[in-house]
Amino acid sequence: MKIQDILTRAPVIPVLIIDDVADAVPLGRALVEGGLSVLEITLRTPVAMECIRRMAGEIEGAVVGAGTALTPALRQAAADAGAQFVVSPGLIEGEGPDGAAPLLPGIATATELMAGLAAGFECFKLFPANIVGGAGALKAYASPFPQAKFCPTGGVSAANAPEYLALPNVLCVGGSWVAPTDAVKAGDWVRITALAREAAALGQRAPAPVEG
Ligand code: 3PG
Repeated sequence: MKIQDILTRAPVIPVLIIDDVADAVPLGRALVEGGLSVLEITLRTPVAMECIRRMAGEIEGAVVGAGTALTPALRQAAADAGAQFVVSPGLIEGEGPDGAAPLLPGIATATELMAGLAAGFECFKLFPANIVGGAGALKAYASPFPQAKFCPTGGVSAANAPEYLALPNVLCVGGSWVAPTDAVKAGDWVRITALAREAAALGQRAPAPVEG
């Protein structure tokens, strides 16, 4: 699957930090049930690779990816574990779009965006979105970089996601708010499905106003 196809499957990609491998499959199922089928498991806990392995193998309808991949080796290891895409907070030196699994690199400036475009990427994570200019920055990038598409992540919430999703160069947003740590720890999958449902509904963009 191409990264663009993955990023257009759902308006929100849950960014997941999973401490207990036993939570992985029920958490993923709760999110998919709510309508969020693209899941990013960050490589920030010792069990992250095993979570990817289980979620990729056991959750029907999910597209499972790895986040916080900082090196080529982590990209490869995530793909080997079953990740269908890989996200990095920045550009990974020497890595292009095609590889073990499609890569969504992060950028925070126009210079980084130009380096990413030169490396062959067209889709980028804007990170940390709210700090590096938010929706205003993406509006400004649209004219000089018409080929670039974005998944803003970092400080995105149910409250500000619609502003991002209304932009033509935004394919989706990423965020951790749909899987709060306390809900995961409590195994409150009902709450997580409800949050996912609300987030999935953000993708129903408002119809264009009728003229006259
Ligand atoms: C991250 O890398 O942690 C993601 O960007 C998620 O950010 P958030 O917790 O602000 O949604």
